[in-house]
Amino acid sequence: MLSRFLVAAAVTAAALGTPAHRSLQVHEKRDNAPNGYSLTEPASSDTVLNLRLALVPNDTTGLIDALYDVSTPSSVKYGQYLSKEEVEVYTSPKEESVSAVSQWLSENGLNATTTSPSGQWMAIQLPVSQANDLLGANYSKFTHEVTGVQVVRTLTYSIPPELADHVEVIHPTVTFPNPYGSGAVMQVSHRSAHAREFRHEKHSRRIHKRDSNSTMSSPCNISAITPECLQYLYNIPTTPATNQFNQLYIFGYDRDWPQRADLTQFLEKYRPDMNSSATWSLQMSDNGTDPQNSSIPQSETTLDTEYAMSLATDVATTFVSVGDIPETADDFLDYLLDGAYYMLNLTDVPQTVTTSYGLDENLVSEKLATTICNAYAALGARGVSLLFPSGDGGVSGLHYPMIAGEMCTTFVPTFPSTCPYVTSVGGTYNVPEVAATLSGGGFSNLFTAPDYQSNATSTYVSALGSTNSGLYNGTGRGFPDVAAQAMYYTIIHNGEESLVNGTSASSPVFASIISLLNDQLLSAGKPPLGFLNPFLYSTGSSGLTDITSGNNYACSNYTTGFNAAIGWDPVTGLGSPDFDRLKTLVGL
Ligand SMILES: *[C@@H]1O[C@H](CO)[C@@H](O)[C@H](O)[C@H]1NC(C)=O
Ligand SMILES: *[C@@H]1O[C@H](CO)[C@@H](O)[C@H](O)[C@H]1NC(C)=O
Ligand SMILES: *[C@@H]1O[C@H](CO)[C@@H](O)[C@H](O)[C@H]1NC(C)=O
Ligand SMILES: *[C@@H]1O[C@H](CO)[C@@H](O)[C@H](O)[C@H]1NC(C)=O
Ligand SMILES: *[C@@H]1O[C@H](CO)[C@@H](O)[C@H](O)[C@H]1NC(C)=O
Ligand SMILES: *[C@@H]1O[C@H](CO)[C@@H](O)[C@H](O)[C@H]1NC(C)=O
Ligand SMILES: *[C@@H]1O[C@H](CO)[C@@H](O)[C@H](O)[C@H]1NC(C)=O
Ligand SMILES: *[C@@H]1O[C@H](CO)[C@@H](O)[C@H](O)[C@H]1NC(C)=O
Ligand SMILES: *[C@@H]1O[C@H](CO)[C@@H](O)[C@H](O)[C@H]1NC(C)=O
Ligand SMILES: *[C@@H]1O[C@H](CO)[C@@H](O)[C@H](O)[C@H]1NC(C)=O
Ligand SMILES: *[C@@H]1O[C@H](CO)[C@@H](O)[C@H](O)[C@H]1NC(C)=O
Ligand SMILES: *[C@@H]1O[C@H](CO)[C@@H](O)[C@H](O)[C@H]1NC(C)=O
Repeated sequence: MLSRFLVAAAVTAAALGTPAHRSLQVHEKRDNAPNGYSLTEPASSDTVLNLRLALVPNDTTGLIDALYDVSTPSSVKYGQYLSKEEVEVYTSPKEESVSAVSQWLSENGLNATTTSPSGQWMAIQLPVSQANDLLGANYSKFTHEVTGVQVVRTLTYSIPPELADHVEVIHPTVTFPNPYGSGAVMQVSHRSAHAREFRHEKHSRRIHKRDSNSTMSSPCNISAITPECLQYLYNIPTTPATNQFNQLYIFGYDRDWPQRADLTQFLEKYRPDMNSSATWSLQMSDNGTDPQNSSIPQSETTLDTEYAMSLATDVATTFVSVGDIPETADDFLDYLLDGAYYMLNLTDVPQTVTTSYGLDENLVSEKLATTICNAYAALGARGVSLLFPSGDGGVSGLHYPMIAGEMCTTFVPTFPSTCPYVTSVGGTYNVPEVAATLSGGGFSNLFTAPDYQSNATSTYVSALGSTNSGLYNGTGRGFPDVAAQAMYYTIIHNGEESLVNGTSASSPVFASIISLLNDQLLSAGKPPLGFLNPFLYSTGSSGLTDITSGNNYACSNYTTGFNAAIGWDPVTGLGSPDFDRLKTLVGL
């Protein structure tokens, strides 16, 4: 468990004598509050802020080079992952950064606590009045018109110029939280924005995978996806995994937790050939949640555990509940960081990780997004495959605007999917598969297309011509990378069967396939797959089935955002997985 000790600003500036005011320079700013938020009043000067400050790491360029060296199939170091200590040589701050920043804080009577394994993050608590003074900020109360969510943020903050090379980012400052609370990337029944998805479909039916092979009956009902259907579609083996070192982690945020009895019931019904006593190991970070049997479980982690565990047969699976401790962290970005550092602090990292949460990229500052993304690069360098869903709002972000009037005017990408060091999983439906209209996809406004995909994205963008011109950033990192079924998943939630939609389902499905490949690789004495994208965009692409038709939705009006196409596209990426072909391509 992560344990952290936070110490309040112990001595006021007054007690130390007024500190010498250093000159300040702007470190980050945004011109306006994000769409939907407006400034309502000044923040009360004695409101206590829990700030985190990231120091500049020793050598980020070295970290990224090391990541690509171990993740690129043609590299001589492919698969030679780094240890915790080796990664920390890159991620730890330099001694001069630690002392320069500590000096500045102590001048101001602030006592910082180190909160990440490499010492990159420090936590401080201070009242709004002092933060405004220290950071040349103007913390104010912003209200989200539709949800009424209130948050204390500033549109700009500054630091002394001599610290510019030492301080990477301070949070919370200019990053805003997801106003809809949960960052879960799934649709629960009260959301019906996709009612038109199947407007041409009169009734559900069983369909065959290939019309030419009419002797084989498909187990798929596209209106009620089951593990058996996915095994059939993606050639996922039913044989149990055997390697004891292979681990699959499923992260839960926002007090979301799965019920063990639901998994048992699900396995009894949908994997009768499996040991229905299979369950997950529980880990907690930040006072996580696990009230088994004493309250109603949440559907996000129910979906994630049921599909990951029914497909990754017998892979040792851990559910990590990341909770919220208001005294130490403010929003989802803090918890995302805590989840990443929880893993970076392990000596033995899991090989495969699925996290079905995200938020709209425009809420996150460039520096904070970069810092989080670099934590994922550090995990990749250690050999972890990180999978995230691409979002359920087509080109309009995590979700379709739930309230009319909040439509996007330019396309909204989803974070962390836009981080170049994770694998983003988009959505399909039907058999043969077409793009699901909810499938999040597009191009980052913060991260440039990395080398492994820049040919793929520029080919798509060239073919697009002037379509959607001005609505997206064609030089950005394109997402998703891959795709899997995203509609009508059968789950057992609180003892009852229901159907859910979302790329939240696609991510654990893809992760289960990766973890089964890792199981066989480890047993064959080979390294696990690690950061997948350099493989997927090169030698691995023929292990994916290209999805070439369908589209995702535009900003709220149910017209086309992007079309699926031959090759990579910003709706279904490179395509959906085929276990057998991937197995051959990874050398098994
Ligand atoms: C700062 O925190 C440390 C440990 O958390 C404590 O030992 C020390 O007394 C604190 N200093 C001040 C000035 O509060
Ligand atoms: C700070 O924000 C308040 C609203 O919270 C505003 O009234 C005030 O003008 C701002 N001050 C500066 C110096 O920008
Ligand atoms: C920073 O990197 C250099 C090598 O590039 C290494 O010698 C040094 O120990 C690193 N510093 C820290 C704090 O890890
Ligand atoms: C890292 O893990 C150790 C236990 O292995 C724990 O004592 C320590 O507090 C953790 N560090 C951080 C920063 O979470
Ligand atoms: C899933 O999507 C279908 C098609 O758009 C819709 O009819 C159904 O209500 C959605 N289910 C949920 C739980 O939102
Ligand atoms: C039908 O599919 C099965 C299983 O994939 C395969 O063994 C068989 O050869 C196929 N038959 C034809 C005619 O394609
Ligand atoms: C397919 O699933 C839907 C939704 O659960 C159900 O109503 C329908 O009866 C199923 N069709 C078949 C052929 O099983
Ligand atoms: C099923 O799993 C349980 C719990 O892991 C274990 O105790 C039991 O021996 C297993 N049964 C079989 C038949 O493998
Ligand atoms: C942890 O959660 C429990 C139950 O929700 C709560 O009572 C307790 O105050 C929390 N602890 C912290 C440090 O937030
Ligand atoms: C487009 O994205 C790149 C990063 O990929 C960024 O540098 C540039 O500022 C963005 N352009 C616009 C108009 O947002
Ligand atoms: C991109 O295309 C160029 C020109 O065709 C080629 O030389 C290069 O190897 C390609 N890069 C990747 C990463 O595929
Ligand atoms: C729908 O929205 C897109 C932007 O997402 C816009 O380009 C298009 O003109 C709109 N179509 C209609 C019919 O309003």
